[in-house]
Amino acid sequence: MNPMDRPAARWRTMRPEDIPSVAAIAATIHPRFYEDAEVFAERQRLFPAGAMLLERRGLAAGYALSHPWRLGELPRLNSLLGAIPQEASTYYIHDLALLPEARGERAAGELMRSFEALARSLCFRSMSLVAVNGSRRFWERQGFDVVESPELSAKLGSYEESAALMVKSLV
Ligand SMILES: CC(C)(COP(=O)(O)OP(=O)(O)OC[C@H]1O[C@@H](n2cnc3c(N)ncnc32)[C@H](O)[C@@H]1OP(=O)(O)O)[C@@H](O)C(=O)NCCC(=O)NCCS
Repeated sequence: MNPMDRPAARWRTMRPEDIPSVAAIAATIHPRFYEDAEVFAERQRLFPAGAMLLERRGLAAGYALSHPWRLGELPRLNSLLGAIPQEASTYYIHDLALLPEARGERAAGELMRSFEALARSLCFRSMSLVAVNGSRRFWERQGFDVVESPELSAKLGSYEESAALMVKSLV
């Protein structure tokens, strides 16, 4: 392969020592959705297969955290999970964030395809997430639909007023 043809960025499994970089990216991109570094670290520990780091030119340029969870039971922002539930019913995307210079290169779409393959291999019937930060159209392009749920409005409002539960069926 011609080195010039190599993609500028690549995903790799997140390691505990990446957490400071993850927290720094989160602070840059999500200043309104502050979470302690321990929140990222706990998710990486509890479900390492769902914790990925994007490297671009040798530097951390994005991350994603995801894990099995209960459909419709949204973890509060900046809260620890404690454990992955035995009766998990959905593959939950906690966060996906890329620095501006790493966007528009299909890195996010590529990662979502590999998370979907993982979710299917674990026999989950859906993937779900809370869409914030004007990302709803991106998630729609990834096959997610908004699910209206009046019972969840208080929890969604703790993220932001326009936060929405989005679900992608895998059946
Ligand atoms: C949303 C985000 C992860 C997308 O990353 P990205 O690497 O630029 O996305 P990709 O290049 O893989 O794009 C995949 C597809 O989504 C589209 N897309 C990307 N961002 C979009 C957006 N904000 N609105 C609508 N469509 C979008 C792309 O055009 C592409 O479509 P195509 O495959 O039909 O050409 C990135 O913009 C980001 O980190 N944003 C800030 C953090 C954030 O809001 N995260 C989501 C919180 S829930």
